[in-house]
Amino acid sequence: MILKDIWLDVKAVKQRDPAARNELEVLLLYQGVHALIWHRFAHWFYEHKLFFIARMISQTARFFTLIEIHPGAKMGHGILIDHGCGVVIGETAVVGDNCTIYQGVTLGGVGLNKGKRHPTLGNNVTVGAGAKILGSFEVGDNCTIAANAVLLKPLENNVTAVGIPARPVKIDGVPIPKKESNMVTMEHYCMMEERVKELEEKLHKLENPLSEKETQNSEEEEKSQD
Ligand SMILES: CC(C)(COP(=O)(O)OP(=O)(O)OC[C@H]1O[C@@H](n2cnc3c(N)ncnc32)[C@H](O)[C@@H]1OP(=O)(O)O)[C@@H](O)C(=O)NCCC(=O)NCCS
Repeated sequence: MILKDIWLDVKAVKQRDPAARNELEVLLLYQGVHALIWHRFAHWFYEHKLFFIARMISQTARFFTLIEIHPGAKMGHGILIDHGCGVVIGETAVVGDNCTIYQGVTLGGVGLNKGKRHPTLGNNVTVGAGAKILGSFEVGDNCTIAANAVLLKPLENNVTAVGIPARPVKIDGVPIPKKESNMVTMEHYCMMEERVKELEEKLHKLENPLSEKETQNSEEEEKSQD
C-alpha cells in the first residue's frame, strides 16, 4: 500500500510539473516526493500509536527536506508538493487526492485547543505559494487558493479565493461580479476633481458678465451726476 502511494506521488509530479523529466529523476531528486515517502512511514507508526518513532521520522524528514508534515496528518494519493521549502502541515490536517501544494504553505490551526484544529482539503485543490489555511474547516474539491492568501473560512467546490483574508473571486472559473464599494478610490477622487474644475469655470463665466454690468452701471451713474 505504501509503495503504491509512493508510486502515485511520483506519477503526480511527472504529470503536473512541466520541469520533471522522468520518474527516476523525480524519485531521486524531488524533496516533495521524499517528504511524502517519509510521511507515509511516519503516519503508519502514528496510526499504530508509536508516536515517538513517528515524530522522529517526521523530524528527520524535515531536516533533509525543509517540509514539515506532522505524522498525524492524513495525505491522499497523487499529491504534488512543488519546491516544498517551508511547507507546514498540522497534525489534524487532511489533504485530498491530487492536490498541489507550493512552497511556504501552512495548513495550520488558530488556537491551542486539542482535537481537530487544522483544515481539510478536498480533491484537486491547489494551494499557491505562501498561502496559509488556518482553522478547522473544509475546502471543497477543485478549489484554488491564491499565492500568499490567508484563508480562514470554508470554501464550496470549484472556488478560487485570493487575498487576506481570502475571498472567493471565481466559481467554476467564472469571475464573481464585484460589489459596489462605498470607499472613495483614486478614480472617484479624479472624477470629483474634474467636476469641481468644470463648476469653477462655469462660475467664472457667470461672474464676468455680472462684474462688467456693475462697472457699466457705476460709469453711467458718475456721468449723470456730472
Ligand atoms: C489564484 C490564481 C490561480 C488566479 O488565477 P486566475 O484564475 O487566472 O485568476 P485571475 O488572474 O483572473 O485573477 C482573478 C482576480 O484575483 C486577483 N488575484 C490573482 N492572484 C492573486 C494573488 N495571489 N493575490 C491577490 N489577488 C490575486 C487578480 O488580480 C484578479 O483580480 P481583479 O479581478 O480585481 O483584477 C493565481 O493568481 C495564483 O495565485 N496561483 C498560484 C500560483 C503559484 O503559487 N505559483 C508558484 C509557482 S513556484
